Amino acid sequence: AAPSGAETSSPANPIKNVVVYGSGLMGSGIVQVAAQHQYQVTMVDLGADHLKKGQGYIEASLKRVARKKFADSDAQQKAFVEDTLSRIQLSTDPEAAATTADLIVEAIVENINTKRSLFSSLDQVAPKHAIFTSNTSSLPISELASATKRQDRFAGLHFFNPVPQMKLVEVVSTAEVNPTVINDLTQFCLSLKKAPVNCKDTPGFIVNRLLVPYLMEAVRLVERGEATPKDVDTAMKLGAGYPMGPFELLDYIGLDTCKFILDGWYKEGKGLAGDKLVRPSERLNELVAKGDLGRKSGKGFYSY
Ligand code: NAI
Repeated sequence: AAPSGAETSSPANPIKNVVVYGSGLMGSGIVQVAAQHQYQVTMVDLGADHLKKGQGYIEASLKRVARKKFADSDAQQKAFVEDTLSRIQLSTDPEAAATTADLIVEAIVENINTKRSLFSSLDQVAPKHAIFTSNTSSLPISELASATKRQDRFAGLHFFNPVPQMKLVEVVSTAEVNPTVINDLTQFCLSLKKAPVNCKDTPGFIVNRLLVPYLMEAVRLVERGEATPKDVDTAMKLGAGYPMGPFELLDYIGLDTCKFILDGWYKEGKGLAGDKLVRPSERLNELVAKGDLGRKSGKGFYSY
């Protein structure tokens, strides 16, 4: 099969070395997919224990991919996993890692000050040509870009969880970004066998802008006592063809994450602040206060 990615894509591909900050759920997935498609990748986190956890996620996921790809050959499975891992380097030194980057993908904690401070320090040491991106779900890209002097080479690159399975990437443009950067990022996504879509830097980009109000309307419907979560889920799966019902999805995303996004938008989302579409929900607030956060805590709208 024709391989894809850094070594074999057009010679004009300016991206070879990818540096990913954050080795959590999203960062480790992005590292894995880039390494699978021939990029040299450095995964950066705060300490060796974090990196080890991220590497554990990657190895487990690669083994699953290998079993599917080479069902008949243990040797080929092993070679695939080893070959992919050989392109991944680990680092706990953010600035040193940036010095050879063509592309930086930030996937650290969702905190604007932490992200801005990382970008500002990387801006001093990364090559001039390096493209900076953030995987943020809820923060304005322009507010991250303004921590650097390369607003023309800064964009959103929003992957979806789980990264190895989910095809979509939202490539997010600010008013300042150079269109060639958006083009390079679009090509990068295609080389990862992902489906990129372009959108402007607005709250929630495309997917979450539509998804969060929909999920919250489901919660409000239940709050009003009009139906049970189970019946709403059945209705949306069998009546609208959705693969998961809204309450299954809320529990999967995490109720705290949903609340964080909702509250942020209600308070200061551009074009959304104070909008009743994103007003707080008592039911959601209660569950989060109790620590019922969804699948990750064993209980949310459902028990696991
Ligand atoms: P996570 O909590 O699983 O991982 C974050 C990682 O970043 C941790 O390993 C942490 O040690 C590390 N980290 C924190 N500060 C750091 C720093 N200064 N330098 C290097 N590493 C640092 O978080 P997750 O879920 O992977 O989210 C990361 C980003 O991706 C967030 O911006 C989030 O909004 C975004 N995102 C999350 C999605 C999800 O479904 N969880 C979906 C799409 C985007």
